[in-house]
Amino acid sequence: MPAPLLRPFGKATYPDPYPTYAELRATAPVHRVELPDGSRAWLVTGEADVRAGLSDPRLSLNKAHSGSGYKGFSLPPALDANLLNIDAADHLRLRRLVSQGFTPRRVEELREQVRAAAGHLADRLAAVLDRAGRADLVAEFANPLPLLVIGDLLGVPEADRGPFSSAVSTMFTPEHPGQVAEAVDRIHRFLLGLVAARRAEPGDDLLSALIAARDEGDRLSEDELVSLAFLILMAGSENTQHLISGGLLTLLGHPAQLAEVRADPSLLPEAVEELLRYAHPNQMAIRRFPTEPVDIGGVRIPPGDTVLLCLASAHRDPARYPDPDRFDIHRADKSHLALGQGFHYCLGAALARTEIRIALETLLHRFPRLALAVPEDGLKWRASFRSHALRELPVTGR
Ligand code: HEM
Repeated sequence: MPAPLLRPFGKATYPDPYPTYAELRATAPVHRVELPDGSRAWLVTGEADVRAGLSDPRLSLNKAHSGSGYKGFSLPPALDANLLNIDAADHLRLRRLVSQGFTPRRVEELREQVRAAAGHLADRLAAVLDRAGRADLVAEFANPLPLLVIGDLLGVPEADRGPFSSAVSTMFTPEHPGQVAEAVDRIHRFLLGLVAARRAEPGDDLLSALIAARDEGDRLSEDELVSLAFLILMAGSENTQHLISGGLLTLLGHPAQLAEVRADPSLLPEAVEELLRYAHPNQMAIRRFPTEPVDIGGVRIPPGDTVLLCLASAHRDPARYPDPDRFDIHRADKSHLALGQGFHYCLGAALARTEIRIALETLLHRFPRLALAVPEDGLKWRASFRSHALRELPVTGR
């Protein structure tokens, strides 16, 4: 008998998707679902199956293996030659070349720039709070910080930062859907120009290092370079932005633990790990397509179907985490899947952790009386079945 088709996603579930995941987990480990765009997928909800799926080489990230012609974000082909659309040897080759530029030393060197950017944005936030008595932490702090850091990482010239950030914001939060393709095109042209400029005049930024990277005579093609820069921009900004705002909201909602972290900032790394589990905005890993029949949770999934590994559900699976809906910075098991697992493990993991920690440290230190300016149920979310993120975070607290 074919598995029943469920429609678990909808506007009503977005603000708090966790009861829906709990219900799905309790009924079966894998469900056949219809997504809001009418397409179909297999939704994997249990922690053990999600974890195994992330490392299963038979689950391809390459859209060429989709039986239904999956297009996803529909990037132009010149931007699609990236790590999250390839597998196996092709992926290994690219990842090896990229790792030459994206070194732990580079992240270490960025630490001071992250600190400076956070300090500068905190000054701006303080000025708005002084003037208006309240401010939107998303617009004033959480959104701009990762963009400033990516600008430093890629070596975006000072004069181009404004137009660059505005194109990226339009891509992520368009006023109407038609603006996305135009913003992607603007960013694409901008990155082509940036690669050409770094080729002519190398700097000490990541892009220059990627242009110079070689592996036994092999090097990154023009499309690969631009696709990578685009991926770093996408992967590096949105999740980090949402974890800063969602992380602060979670801490504000748990005053005893907030007081502990304020009193002892050395607890922040632990708090960040628990936030990655508990407040992770990315509901799903990148879609995968089986290259052969694959059994997951007792269900045989045919090749070419779309498989969604639900990270947010895995993070609340009681089979893995005792009392999973409780936020607890002292939780003994702090491992999570927020940064992926296996071949495609997040390349920016160390940078992401550094940014979130410094962002929270700066906010807690500079604004000892920070508080929500609206009741929690009045907050506006920018949510879909893929992402659970705050649109605004109005705060007071000078
Ligand atoms: C809190 C912030 C972040 C989160 C939650 C996050 C999460 C993830 C996840 C879950 C994956 C694996 C996707 C999958 O297997 O389906 C991934 C991959 C990746 N991330 Fe991140 N990421 C974050 C920040 C960053 C940053 C700051 C950068 C770079 C500046 C970055 C660059 C990448 C890249 C390049 C990949 C692809 C790696 C590969 O396929 O080999 N990420 N990230």
